[in-house]
Amino acid sequence: MGGFSTQLLKNGQELVIREGEIADAAMCLEYIEKVSAQSNFLTFGPGEFGLSLEEEMDVIDKKKTRDNELFLLGLVDNQLVSQMTVNSSQRARLRHAVEFGISVDKPYWGTGVGSAMLSYLLDWAQKNPIIRKVNLQVLPHNIAGVKLYEKFGFTVEGRKLRDNLQDGVFSDVLLMGKLID
Ligand SMILES: CC(C)(COP(=O)(O)OP(=O)(O)OC[C@H]1O[C@@H](n2cnc3c(N)ncnc32)[C@H](O)[C@@H]1OP(=O)(O)O)[C@@H](O)C(=O)NCCC(=O)NCCS
Repeated sequence: MGGFSTQLLKNGQELVIREGEIADAAMCLEYIEKVSAQSNFLTFGPGEFGLSLEEEMDVIDKKKTRDNELFLLGLVDNQLVSQMTVNSSQRARLRHAVEFGISVDKPYWGTGVGSAMLSYLLDWAQKNPIIRKVNLQVLPHNIAGVKLYEKFGFTVEGRKLRDNLQDGVFSDVLLMGKLID
């Protein structure tokens, strides 16, 4: 269940937010490879995403058929500048809680893309009769990420110790969440 929305960015460009389609799969994998090298804040680095084109198509397809999941794209001039994946369980005891991941292409950091994507997600969650909780995980030193989430009312609910490993260095991860009422 998705939709379509447009938003004027701080740089004057128009951001289009829409659900990902199977036909977007190759563009999405190309985008993922690009952003994987732009920060150390994602759960994968260059070459580590690990999905084939067929697997990516399958993921997008499944998201479209599930009423508590979402795969969102942010585009400027038909170019992908952001992706958001919203995952959940299909089990009755867990399906009200979703967890999302987001990335924005580096030239667009600070232009309001992240805020627009998050706004869209929270609006969707509010209107969705199933969703009552939105969760995320963020590295504590990802200042822009933490600030973005706090701006939208997410709070730190916990900390997973030694959850992330990069270049031989472990990092904890913050668990943040927001209730949807
Ligand atoms: C984190 C990320 C998604 C934010 O997206 P963005 O488009 O830059 O965010 P916005 O421009 O909407 O900024 C939202 C808020 O974040 C905060 N913020 C953004 N950049 C910041 C920075 N460099 N330092 C401090 N706070 C910052 C501000 O509070 C800002 O709100 P404001 O513009 O009203 O002041 C983006 O930087 C990104 O993709 N980073 C790399 C991947 C990543 O970290 N993904 C998230 C993993 S948990």
